[in-house]
Amino acid sequence: MPRFVSARTDSRLIVLPWPVPLEDWPTDNLVALPRGISRHVVRFVRVGSDIYAVKEVLEHLALHEYRLLRDLTRLDVPSVEPVGVVTERFDPDGVPLDPVLVTKHLQFSLPYRSLFHRGVRRDTVNRLVDAMVVLLARLHLIGFLWGDVSLSNTLFRRDAGSFAAYLVDAETGELHDELTTGQREHDLQIARTNLFGEFCDLEAGGLLDAALDPQTLVETIENRYRELWAELTEVEEFDGSEMHRIESRVRRLNALGFDVAELDIVTDFGGSTIRIQPKVVDAGHHSRRLLRLTGLDTEENQARRLLNDLDYFRARTDQQNADEAVVAHQWLTQRFEPVITTIPDDLRGKLEPAELYHEILEHRWFMSEAAGREVDIVKAAEDYVATVLRTLPDEAVAVTDNESMELANPFDPSQGFVDDDWEKPYDPWEDGVEETPDDAPVRGDFLDIEALRRKARG
Ligand SMILES: Nc1ncnc2c1ncn2[C@@H]1O[C@H](COP(=O)(O)OP(=O)(O)O)[C@@H](O)[C@H]1O
Ligand SMILES: [Mg+2]
Repeated sequence: MPRFVSARTDSRLIVLPWPVPLEDWPTDNLVALPRGISRHVVRFVRVGSDIYAVKEVLEHLALHEYRLLRDLTRLDVPSVEPVGVVTERFDPDGVPLDPVLVTKHLQFSLPYRSLFHRGVRRDTVNRLVDAMVVLLARLHLIGFLWGDVSLSNTLFRRDAGSFAAYLVDAETGELHDELTTGQREHDLQIARTNLFGEFCDLEAGGLLDAALDPQTLVETIENRYRELWAELTEVEEFDGSEMHRIESRVRRLNALGFDVAELDIVTDFGGSTIRIQPKVVDAGHHSRRLLRLTGLDTEENQARRLLNDLDYFRARTDQQNADEAVVAHQWLTQRFEPVITTIPDDLRGKLEPAELYHEILEHRWFMSEAAGREVDIVKAAEDYVATVLRTLPDEAVAVTDNESMELANPFDPSQGFVDDDWEKPYDPWEDGVEETPDDAPVRGDFLDIEALRRKARG
């Protein structure tokens, strides 16, 4: 009898065909979802309305990864959520099978290969790079040494025009109280090697924009990581007449999506020199505020967008001095919910609610511009559903399901397509947006810390 190691087992998992090697599982248990490249056999199973990822892996690794993923979830770092480990598996002849690590399938997540196989613009690559850098810095802040930083071990979710990155493979990870510079450099070294290989691979497959060079991309990731790390942790020293620099530092960190929980401030005798250093910074500045005000749990950029809309609602309804929580409740019931209810049930799997709202805000902006007046948000939502949403791929469940190409084995995307001689499918995500000129520097706006510093200096 298989044995379950888990804090809270979903009893429906117990009846799955554990005595069968994962590779041979009957397809009626499986769902075809896009998946990254992996060493182990990984499958997605549907149990009721939930989807789980199951990975066959050696026992000590399965337990190690399960415990680490629990720690990461507890510490609120974006990663897949562990469910349990199934050990003591034997086939009907009594031959032992490897244990299985079960995690919750990360809803609406996209492995980088499914993003790239549809062809991505330079801007999109920049945003992916930024998301990856933020994830690595967040992991390092809580003392997590990843050991296998790579695009294959990362999942991406759409986040109001950007991306949020999640860790998916913690097998090689170690959790420490704090990382030394040497340990962080070790992760960076691995990131350089793995990412360079992955970008070269995309390039060889004709999936990387010709204007992008793997070496430059890897250097960009490294530079942005170093800038972000410095902003998050470095000592800043200034003259007593420049006290506003304390405030600027906090504001810059907020703009990058971090809250400063502890700021160490040291002054010399007489207060002529001041040294500040952030000691504890927590990611999710905007998403935490939105959650507190409305109960909506979103990604960071989605939260920024929704909070801006909330501010706009407050101004439009002339409630500048009203209690924030009261206005937030009105916004939720009079704006957000009516917009989300206009989405027909069969289209709910296209995008997450917060991402839909963001898209509808964009759509309304285009419509208002064309009409020369402000278009009502619910009208904009209806138009968006009719003209845009229906044509988008279904991201909650499967991108591969409704693509025109057929996978050799729909339950194992790593086996490639039946006919590799296909034309790149039309992707509405990539449509209608201006191309960045080829000679534009590889530079996103999100992690431009220099620009933030200039802004803070006024
Ligand atoms: N919980 C999950 N949600 C979504 N995708 C997942 C999940 N777990 C695994 N995957 C997919 O399976 C791939 C391989 O998983 P990974 O843990 O990296 O296996 P390996 O240890 O063999 O490298 C990932 O790149 C990801 O695409
Ligand atoms: Mg992996």
